[in-house]
Amino acid sequence: MREELSVDTVEQVKLQAFQELESASDDAALEQWRVAYLGRSGKITQLLRGLGALDPDERRVVGAAANKAKGVLSDGLDLRIKALKDALLAGRLDTESIDVTLPGLPAPQGRLHPITQTRREIEEAFVAMGFEVREGPEVEWDRYNFDMLNIPKEHPARDMWDTMWVDNENAEGERSMLLRTHTSPMQARIMEATEPPVRVIVPGKVYRYEATDPTHEWHFQQVEGLAVDEGITLANLKGTLFEFARRVFGEERKVRFRCDFFPFVEPGVDMSIDCFKCGGDGCHICGHTGWIEILGAGMVHPNVLSGVGYDPQKYTGFAFGMGVERIAMLKYGIDDVRNFYANDLRFLSQF
Ligand code: PHE
Repeated sequence: MREELSVDTVEQVKLQAFQELESASDDAALEQWRVAYLGRSGKITQLLRGLGALDPDERRVVGAAANKAKGVLSDGLDLRIKALKDALLAGRLDTESIDVTLPGLPAPQGRLHPITQTRREIEEAFVAMGFEVREGPEVEWDRYNFDMLNIPKEHPARDMWDTMWVDNENAEGERSMLLRTHTSPMQARIMEATEPPVRVIVPGKVYRYEATDPTHEWHFQQVEGLAVDEGITLANLKGTLFEFARRVFGEERKVRFRCDFFPFVEPGVDMSIDCFKCGGDGCHICGHTGWIEILGAGMVHPNVLSGVGYDPQKYTGFAFGMGVERIAMLKYGIDDVRNFYANDLRFLSQF
């Protein structure tokens, strides 16, 4: 027996469909509902198929109603899907609320390398005392690195600086271009190009052909200092470097000068500071001597002055040179110089 197909039947199916749609509350239930009503053998589809058995008049009326029902039901489905999505979102907003007062995620911030920081600190100490900061070439002629500094070819003092040569040997088996082994060549370059008075410091990289160990790198940084004028004495050297030591290592620092040899100074000295760790009692930092050697210095050798065209009878001067890594190691208590260039952020980000 076939059920009578009328506008009423259409309305009943529609009503039931809406009631069921209302209680479908997840994706699976919605899909099930769609198949049941709008699918290929769904109820609305079946109604439409049954139209063929009706009188033309009735078919027109019931057909229109069925098509309309199909339209509103598929609109209803869309609305229901959207409503469920909105509800889901609202639920998330309730449970996953954002606390705008929480601190934000910190953006990673860069910083200066500890050696750059130390170099700047050294520069500031000398700039405050009237020194000018100058830089020079890292690839240098042996003329400036040695000859002009009173270290002629074949002089055994060249062995004090293990050299990396960068050019090929000439016919005589000699080489002349090198990576500077110290910043001292800038003493000659600056004096050659300037008339006294001279008051400069020269920070920069230097290179030595040697094996690395906790206290030696094959590349490192120095700060050179040079002051030349009429009447400059060893007392000026001591006063200037004493002031530097107090600025960088603390007000209460004591300094000690001892004789040392560098071919380009006469007399030559080295300067130590009293150990800031043990205050001079002796500890592992100062090698149980109470003193820490921090730089080499001296009065500019007359041969160096006349070599650049200065009259050594008229002018005198002092020069000094220090290793920046060594100063940083002492300041921060670092026991291996290689840490500075290992590019390990766990180390570098501590400064
Ligand atoms: N250039 C020397 C070195 O590298 C240091 C120094 C500079 C000593 C100036 C005296 C005067 O060892």
